[in-house]
Amino acid sequence: MTDQTVLSFSSPSTAGDGVAVVFAEEGGKFTPAAQDLDKKTKGLLTKAAQITTFKGKKGTSVDVLAPQGVKFARIVLVGLGKPGEFVHEDWLNLGGTVRGKLSGREGAAAHVYLETVKGDVAPKDAASFALGAQLRDYKFDKYKSKSAKKADNGNDGKADDGKSLKKLVVHVADPRAAGQAFAPERAVADGVNLARDLVNEPANVLGPAEFAAKAKALSKAGVQVEVLSEAALKRLGMGALLAVGQGSERPSHVVVMQWKGAGAKGGAPVAIVGKGVTFDTGGISLKPAAGMEDMKGDMAGAACVVGLMLALAERKAKVNAVGVIGLIENMPSGGATRPGDVVEAMSGTTIEVLNTDAEGRMVLADCLWYTQDKFKPKAVINLATLTGAVMVALGKEHAGLFSNNDELSERLTVAGKETGEKLWRLPLGPKYDKLIDSKVADIKNTGGRWGGSISAAQFLQRFIKEGTPWAHLDVAGTAMASGDTDINRSWGSGFGVRLLDRLIRDHYER
Ligand code: BES
Ligand code: MN
Ligand code: ZN
Repeated sequence: MTDQTVLSFSSPSTAGDGVAVVFAEEGGKFTPAAQDLDKKTKGLLTKAAQITTFKGKKGTSVDVLAPQGVKFARIVLVGLGKPGEFVHEDWLNLGGTVRGKLSGREGAAAHVYLETVKGDVAPKDAASFALGAQLRDYKFDKYKSKSAKKADNGNDGKADDGKSLKKLVVHVADPRAAGQAFAPERAVADGVNLARDLVNEPANVLGPAEFAAKAKALSKAGVQVEVLSEAALKRLGMGALLAVGQGSERPSHVVVMQWKGAGAKGGAPVAIVGKGVTFDTGGISLKPAAGMEDMKGDMAGAACVVGLMLALAERKAKVNAVGVIGLIENMPSGGATRPGDVVEAMSGTTIEVLNTDAEGRMVLADCLWYTQDKFKPKAVINLATLTGAVMVALGKEHAGLFSNNDELSERLTVAGKETGEKLWRLPLGPKYDKLIDSKVADIKNTGGRWGGSISAAQFLQRFIKEGTPWAHLDVAGTAMASGDTDINRSWGSGFGVRLLDRLIRDHYER
C-alpha cells in the first residue's frame, strides 16, 4: 500500500479550492451545495447537466472544468440515484465511486459536499461513505518503479506529473459526529488494507516466516501474539499441518493472536481461524501451470484473520477474540508428502492423504483442534480459500458458508448482507460425511469430484468438538481475483474483515 489520501470532515461551506464534488438526485434535482455552486457559476452546472443529459442517475457524473466565479478548478456533479432508498452499503459504495472519479487528475485537494436534496446525511452514513473512499484509495504498487507509478494513476494510462489526491475533505452538517462515527471505520479500513497487502504480496517475499513476522507486528496495536515454531508444532502433534509443509524449505508456523478487549468478565473468546498456505503448488499432486500464480493468495483466510485482529485492536473492540493461523508452503520435493501417506492429526484422527493438493483442510484440522483445545471458545469461525468447487457453485458473488449452528449461520448471513460481503449457506450431512471415510485410516483428504466444497467442509467438521458452534467460510472465489467493485480495485479484496467485524459488533461485544 502506498501513501493514502488524508481524509477529514468539515462543515458545509463551499469556499474551497481544488476539486468540488456535489450531488444531484434521480430526476436531476440538485442538492443545496450543488445549487449554491450553480448560482456562483451563473448556471454552469445546469447547462453542463443539460448538454450531457445528466439526470442524477446513480453512478453517472458530469465534469465541469475551470468554472468561473469560484476558486475550484473543477466541479464534479455526481448522481446519487435515490438516497431515500439507501442502505449502509450504498453509502459505502458511493464513497468508492466518488473516490474513483477523483483518481489521477485532481491535484492536491478535493471537497465533497455530502448531502441529499433534502439536506443532511446521517453521521454513520457519512462514515460509511468515508470508509468506501478509503477502501477505493488502496493500490498495491510497491513493485512499480517511480515512472511507471506516474503513468498508472487511473488516468487512462496518461501521466499527470505524479499528482495524486493528498487531501479529501468530506463536508457534512455535523463534522464532529461524522468524525466520531468514522473512527472505528478507519480501523476497519486499516484491517482490510492490511489483509489486501498480505494477499497481494508475492510468495517469494511472503513465506510462512515473513507472514508470521507481519502478524507479530500486531503487538504494537495491543494484540498478544505468539509465533509457534515448527519444533513446537511437532511437540503439539500437529501431524496433518506439518505433512503439508514438509516439502518446503521454509519451516511452517502457527500464529496465535489474542485481543482481550472485554477483559476477564468477557469470558471465553470468539475464535477466528485462517488457512495460510503462502503458496500452493499442489505438492506432489502438482497443479497445472495455467493460473498457478494465483496460489500466492492461498493465505487469504489467514490474511483476513490478521486484518480483523488489527481492526478490533485499533477500534478497541470490547470483545475477547483469538485468531489462529496456520502458515505453510505446499511444495513438491524429495521430502514432500506422497499420495497414499497416512498421517496423524493433533486430535488423534488418522488421515489418508489421497491428494496433496487438498492441503488446506489438513492445515485447518490441526489449527481448529488446537484452538478448541486451548481456548474453549464460544464459537469458531474459519476462513479458507479451500476449494475451486465453491466457485463452480457460487461464482464470485458469494462465499460458501457451512455451519453446524443455525443461529451462527443466520448471524453471519445477515452480516454478509449488511456489509456486501455476501455468504450463501451450503449443506452438511451424514451422507456427505461418508464420502471421506477411508479404507486404511479414519478419514481420507478428498471426497471425490461431486460436492467437492461440501466434502471439504465435512473434513473440517471431523475436527470440531461436539457442542462448539462452528462456521466455515470458503472464500476461494471472493478473497482474490474477485473482480473490480466500487470499493476495491485490488487483486486481493480483503474479503471477510468487514463481515466479521460486523458480526462481532452486533453479537459478541459487551
Ligand atoms: N487452494 C486450493 C483451492 C483454490 C483453487 C483456491 C482456486 C482458489 C482458487 C485448494 O488447496 C485446492 O487445491 N483444492 C482442490 C481440492 C481437491 C484436490 C480435492 C481443488 O479445489 O481442486
Ligand atoms: Mn491445494
Ligand atoms: Zn490450497
